[in-house]
Amino acid sequence: MPREKEESHKESKDASAPKEDLSASDVEIDELEGVGPATKEKLNNAGILTVMDLAVKSPSEIADAIGSDLARAVELSTKARTKLVELHYLEDDFVSASEIYKRRKAIDRISTGTKNLDDLLAGGIETQAVTEFYGEFGSGKTQICHTLCVMVQQPKEQGGLSGKVVYIDTENTFRPERIVGIAQARGYEPDAILNGIVVAKAYNSSHQELILGELGARVREFGVRLVIVDSAVAHYRAEFLGRGTLSERQQRLNKFMHALVRTAEIYNLAVVVTNQVQSSPDTFFGDPTKATGGHVVAHTSTYRVYVRKTGKNRVARMVDSPYHPERESLFILDERGIDDPQEESSTRRRSS
Ligand code: GTP
Ligand code: MG
Repeated sequence: MPREKEESHKESKDASAPKEDLSASDVEIDELEGVGPATKEKLNNAGILTVMDLAVKSPSEIADAIGSDLARAVELSTKARTKLVELHYLEDDFVSASEIYKRRKAIDRISTGTKNLDDLLAGGIETQAVTEFYGEFGSGKTQICHTLCVMVQQPKEQGGLSGKVVYIDTENTFRPERIVGIAQARGYEPDAILNGIVVAKAYNSSHQELILGELGARVREFGVRLVIVDSAVAHYRAEFLGRGTLSERQQRLNKFMHALVRTAEIYNLAVVVTNQVQSSPDTFFGDPTKATGGHVVAHTSTYRVYVRKTGKNRVARMVDSPYHPERESLFILDERGIDDPQEESSTRRRSS
């Protein structure tokens, strides 16, 4: 996957999502062979309305929804995938390079609103991928999320995707006032920006999973191109304490993260998650394995960016990416949300 990213990277900038995306998201569930009215009703009741919704679910979720055994659920899941392959929406198990190329050309990028972070991310936050920002408290993860909420709504020429946002807030730290401030500082109309953000407060990990399950309908309704989960891990960490619960925690988190990856790929949208790491005084660079989600988040996030404080500045580093440069980028927190450090940003503003 990373190698393909590298190859398609240059071409993907101006490409928009393929036309068939729109029609594929409208294919209703009963167009699948073997889905009768009763099954349809049960699926619909569980928020599964289209073939795409079905493809995003895991077989066990489908089994729960229709009250069937796993075999029947796997059969439905396979049918949904096959249908999407027929519609050229998903890749077949064996697929021509040109098909992959076509799909990957649909990858878009969202500017972070800072030149430095955009450079670090080779152009911005990618769709069809999950990007994780992890770091200790106050490192700026939530500020990055708020800034992205404003940026993604801008037109392409200005670094956005003219898209809406779903913000899953698990720590009760989403602040509309901050969105207003960032929008104003960047010269955008705050009300329009606020209207483009749907906030879902997740009260516990099960609720968080439920919200993700209902995401498909929102994505279609609002034209969502960015889903934020701030933080992805906090509830799991709080609820599953002690060694005995660790494997269940990792299992649940694993399922949640994989559902996010599928959502990003199927709907061609960007997913951004945050993850707090405890500061560890005995290491200089922080230790990626200390991220609270442990290895689960590390393995399913497509990109991981480690953020830390150095005095007033913040430093971001791309971790474990075979095609991004091994270097660090500086950014600051100010009225524009996140920003380039003073000299650079003032030069940029003067010249623009
Ligand atoms: P946790 O969620 O606790 O893990 O931290 P985080 O990484 O999400 O940190 P967050 O993004 O909330 O950053 C908090 C910091 O942002 C504060 O310490 C402030 O320095 C800065 N900040 C927040 N709001 C503003 C603001 O309106 N103006 C400025 N200049 N800075 C702000
Ligand atoms: Mg935060």
